[in-house]
Amino acid sequence: MSWLKIEGLKKNYELEDMDVDALRGIDLDIEEGGFIVIVGRSGSGKTTLLRILAGLEKETAGRIIFKGRICGEEHPLPVGMVFQEARLLPWLSVENNILFPFHHEGRAKDMHSKAVSLLKMIGLEEYGNAMPHQLSGGMAQRVALGRALSCDPDIVLLDEPLGALDYFTRRALQRELAKIYLAGGKTFLMVTHDVGEALRLGTRVIVLNRGKIEASIPIELGYPRDRHSDKFQSLLDEVLEALDDAE
Ligand SMILES: Nc1ncnc2c1ncn2[C@@H]1O[C@H](COP(=O)(O)OP(=O)(O)OP(=O)(O)O)[C@@H](O)[C@H]1O
Ligand SMILES: [Mg+2]
Repeated sequence: MSWLKIEGLKKNYELEDMDVDALRGIDLDIEEGGFIVIVGRSGSGKTTLLRILAGLEKETAGRIIFKGRICGEEHPLPVGMVFQEARLLPWLSVENNILFPFHHEGRAKDMHSKAVSLLKMIGLEEYGNAMPHQLSGGMAQRVALGRALSCDPDIVLLDEPLGALDYFTRRALQRELAKIYLAGGKTFLMVTHDVGEALRLGTRVIVLNRGKIEASIPIELGYPRDRHSDKFQSLLDEVLEALDDAE
């Protein structure tokens, strides 16, 4: 039995004058503890796939099976999600943004020690009382990551989380993500436009093309990765070729 199985997943959007097939039958077995990276051109369905996994969108057909049980409203996948923009609540401090998933339970006040350990994990120990407008883009994305991890989800969904960041911040956060991933216990699914980033982080790269899987390429390399190694370069070529094949 696979840990997380996606079967025949389809998503159709009916617009006024046209139909959009955003996902046209996705079949995917995801192993526990993997770091799956999804690449593909704009409009290939990457965000749609993550949004369905997060329960923010309903599939048109197909199903998601987690540990042998079909997921749905009653059995949502245990996920935390980071979007391309941080989406912090401007009126809440960094600490309260991180603890936001607990607010409706009225438990945020007892959770200070949890927030402290999450702030440490994302490298913002000193910033618990800061307000979102006082943060740089990279810091705001760290907070969004802290918020996604606060419920201790089995699955972390990342939709181009580093897309808006400069090269140096991006590299620093890639290292941060690798560290959190290697600390163990979580399965990552990340969308990126940066093939180098996919190769640095992923245990598998999925190439999406017009709502279907064009290629699924295992990346059997340890961390940290040497981008000058022959193996890294040949895997990079393989991913780029699959992207080129996607019309
Ligand atoms: N809410 C929506 N209503 C109608 N069509 C949508 C909606 N969301 C996505 N689509 C369409 O579904 C297709 C896939 O969109 P999606 O956002 O999943 O692409 P993507 O691979 O994430 O692209 P990008 O790299 O630009 O973020 C696109 O054709 C898009 O226009
Ligand atoms: Mg997208």
